[in-house]
Amino acid sequence: MNGRSTPEITALSSIDALGTEAALVVPFFDGDDASTLQRLSGRDEGSLRALLERGAAPSKRYEMTLLYDVGAASTLLLGCGPREEMEPVLAMRLASAASRHLARRGFRRIGYLHRGFMEPRVWAQAVTQGALAGPYDPGLKKSRDLDSGHLDRIDLVTTADQGAVEAGARLGQIVGEATNLARDLVNLPANDLTPTTFAGRAREVAEEAGLRHEILDEGAMRDLGMGSFLGVSAGSDEPAKLIVLRYGSDDSPVRLALVGKGLTFDSGGLSLKTAEGMETMKGDMGGGAAVVAGMQAVARLAPTNIAVTGYVGATENMPSGKSMRPGDVLTAMNGKTIEVLNTDAEGRLVLADVLAYACRQGATHIVDFATLTGGAVVALGHAATLAAGEPQQWVQQVVEAASEGLERAWAMPLYEEYRRAMDSDVADIKNTGGRYGSALTATAFLRDFVDGPPWAHMDIAGTAWADKAAPYQSTGGTGAGVGTIAALVQRLAAGPGR
Ligand code: BES
Ligand code: MN
Ligand code: ZN
Repeated sequence: MNGRSTPEITALSSIDALGTEAALVVPFFDGDDASTLQRLSGRDEGSLRALLERGAAPSKRYEMTLLYDVGAASTLLLGCGPREEMEPVLAMRLASAASRHLARRGFRRIGYLHRGFMEPRVWAQAVTQGALAGPYDPGLKKSRDLDSGHLDRIDLVTTADQGAVEAGARLGQIVGEATNLARDLVNLPANDLTPTTFAGRAREVAEEAGLRHEILDEGAMRDLGMGSFLGVSAGSDEPAKLIVLRYGSDDSPVRLALVGKGLTFDSGGLSLKTAEGMETMKGDMGGGAAVVAGMQAVARLAPTNIAVTGYVGATENMPSGKSMRPGDVLTAMNGKTIEVLNTDAEGRLVLADVLAYACRQGATHIVDFATLTGGAVVALGHAATLAAGEPQQWVQQVVEAASEGLERAWAMPLYEEYRRAMDSDVADIKNTGGRYGSALTATAFLRDFVDGPPWAHMDIAGTAWADKAAPYQSTGGTGAGVGTIAALVQRLAAGPGR
């Protein structure tokens, strides 16, 4: 979509096989000395000692020192901080910072050196995923192509077992590429990515990946009784779409439903947001992007004994003469009535019907991804996705999958008090529960529309969008959720222990 070409990824057993135009990334831990660096990089020990003595080596994590060479591979000393703090998410971010730095400086080929600080499979996954993420640029709509760099080739330099390295690299590549797809979808402006064009992109992804797909229009949703979802879309001139992507056979023992909030723009509706509050609301379809891109990853992973269906409720939330009003009562497809007190609490109204539909379609397990509440950002900041749901063991499985997918998620409780806050005087439930614990009152709301299967709700409001650039990441969409989906599907397909 971004005119991105995908780099070739290979395992190398020695740095000697790197081409002269490549750069070798050498992890630099606090306390490393010249002889260690000499052994790792093959560079002259005397000049490395001089470099260390004048303080020109990285002194902090994400600091980098590039040592150019003519006629030999260059070396990037990559500040990694204390060796004992190394862990997979950090390894991924460091790899990303390095590829971001090098791609911008014209390098097309990067070798990553394995210093044995992590299991080879996990290391290869983290480095590949990070390497692919690093050069990503959100400037999709710039009229002049300001190429911020791209890679032709990534070499994983290690003497570890080839099989493990290749398995990790494959997962990292599938997740890395799908993550960049999700980022593109999030970064596209709402005048470009409408519910209709979102559905069109999803169809393209499905066709390319070999997934079955259906796009339900408003007529079909009306026939299904989706009055809650349609209440949100009523105010918009853009027709809503329910995107369904399917992988695997319906008689699989495990039928996982992935449900995504796909608000291509959230103005708040009549309960209008502030100008500032709206600035990033083209990204309110981050959950839907994760589901579409996650389904691409599922197709490429090709797991057996599992069916995975992605559902995305795509619509805008706009103020107009046709908008739902505060005080209106909507009826969801499961028959429950909802008093709408704040039209800006629209994501749960969309998810209510999509979750009920996924249950009706025979899901055995459900996970939803949604930029649902400011409360999730208050609780965990931008550091982790807020997970909640029922039963707790299933939420915990999804949280562990997040970590295997090199993401961060944190499980929160779902006490009955949260549901009580949603009691309405006039209908079965109301759509707001006040300021406190709002990520969890929102979760309690959703629970009313899940009938049967274990269900985990992933509130990615804090993780799907980056306001500030980091050494390892551009601003804009992050692709949060994609890694979790890939790892979860692998875990469920692996069978025992599911
Ligand atoms: N899309 C927003 C949540 C959001 C906020 C996502 C900030 C990303 C960044 C959601 O639709 C919303 O408006 N939630 C309200 C609900 C409230 C009115 C009950 C919120 O959390 O403030
Ligand atoms: Mn809203
Ligand atoms: Zn929203």
